[in-house]
Amino acid sequence: MFKKTKLIVNSIFILLLIFSIISSSNALEFEIYNKEGNNNIFQNPIFKNAIENKTKYKITYPLSTTPALVEKEGKFIINFEAEEFEEIYVTISTAYEPVIDEILLENITYLNETPNWKIEVNIPLSITEELYNITLLFINEGQSYKAIQPRSLKIFDEFKDDFSFIHITDIHYGDPRGLVESIKETIGFKSIKRCIKEINLLQPDFVLISGDIVFGQLYPFEYKIEYKKCYDLLQSFDVPTFLVPGNHDGYNRILEDGFDFWQEYFGPLYYSFDYGEYHFTAVNSYDMSKLYRLTFLFIPLNWGGSITNEQLNWVENDLANSHSKLNFMFLHHNPLWDTISDSLIGMGYKNRKNLLSIIHENGVDMVLAGHNHLDTVNIENDVVFITTTTPESEISTDDGYWGYRFVKIINGEIFSYNYKEPKYSIPSYHIDYNINFYDDFAEAIVNNSLDINIEANVKFLMPIGTYSVENGEIIMQRINEDYNEIYVKSNIQPQTTKTITLFKL
Ligand SMILES: [Fe+2]
Repeated sequence: MFKKTKLIVNSIFILLLIFSIISSSNALEFEIYNKEGNNNIFQNPIFKNAIENKTKYKITYPLSTTPALVEKEGKFIINFEAEEFEEIYVTISTAYEPVIDEILLENITYLNETPNWKIEVNIPLSITEELYNITLLFINEGQSYKAIQPRSLKIFDEFKDDFSFIHITDIHYGDPRGLVESIKETIGFKSIKRCIKEINLLQPDFVLISGDIVFGQLYPFEYKIEYKKCYDLLQSFDVPTFLVPGNHDGYNRILEDGFDFWQEYFGPLYYSFDYGEYHFTAVNSYDMSKLYRLTFLFIPLNWGGSITNEQLNWVENDLANSHSKLNFMFLHHNPLWDTISDSLIGMGYKNRKNLLSIIHENGVDMVLAGHNHLDTVNIENDVVFITTTTPESEISTDDGYWGYRFVKIINGEIFSYNYKEPKYSIPSYHIDYNINFYDDFAEAIVNNSLDINIEANVKFLMPIGTYSVENGEIIMQRINEDYNEIYVKSNIQPQTTKTITLFKL
């Protein structure tokens, strides 16, 4: 009997190993995020020959995981580490666009000097509303160096009281458990790529990702592979993304601690940010010492929640100093529930009740969590506590599915967060689009098999010319010497397929 069990366990392990090798060898092909343009500032030899040397010159804020959200004519702060330099230039370039705009930002104010440099930079009025990469260029003794942070700056025309964000959680990059839902869509991470494609079409103002970004529970030295690949995967969002870790991101494995990789690739474990007058607190709910995060291959000591006193004090101060119209919190473990069963040593969710008191006493309006791979909504004393399903891993309930949650704020109030009442997220695989290009026109065929209207945002790359659109509205164009990049918006009715056609006049 024992032999049989051992055989089954070994077979499962070998299968999982094969899965991970197949999946990780499936090349991820995404556009290069730091590609340099062909017309203006990077043609200057000083910039063109700049060397990237992360140990000498490194941006520490903003990052692609904690981007800066700034209005036109607003200002933002850049933190960086740098060895000596004589001159510095701040440039931004549009992320992931075939037509690249590069802008040299002037008006730099020095707030702090070496070793933790801090500068304040102004955004001129003339800049297009877009997601940008930031490049710092340093000149030292005739040599130029560059430090790049992709997708780390979103410029808005203005912050509004009507905005939206999408909540996704438990991506579990490298998780084989999704195989029980769909073998075809799990291998090669098709389901998460599909989810990103759908979110890019919906273009929320930003995305919150509440942990379990990687898996870290399968084979030795797994984090080294998963963090790098997952970082690359996340760069294919063409909207800003904010991350916090879950248990899978922070296991302390033999010779590798997940949180070391988190800090290297994704930055801080907890922080907060503002979209205009709306505040978002990102909490690390797997906040425990290395010893309690100990994991031997696929057996962790604890996979439940915990918040240290130090972080709890930070959260309380952060909320006390917020005078926002609405306060949102996102974290991996929903503080409504204890996680004593998510532990081999019966450790409960440390400071859970204290966090709940802070939430209620400091005017938090909505708390978004993951971990359980299911949809839940609980309203307690006017606070909306949400758990969102996973877009890739195993589903915990019979009525569950892969998906993500769209949260809409209208007139400064939380307007909607359920796709269907009383708790459901948007199911993945219900929105799709393809663009076909012909000689003097192009058409995007958008299918919406959801039961709600969607606002689809499609980008067309066309030869230089004047265009008009049928079944949509041109909201922006960007032009270089070869191409027009045309942004079209269109409302797609429930359960319909719509063809958006762009004609050359
Ligand atoms: Fe989790």
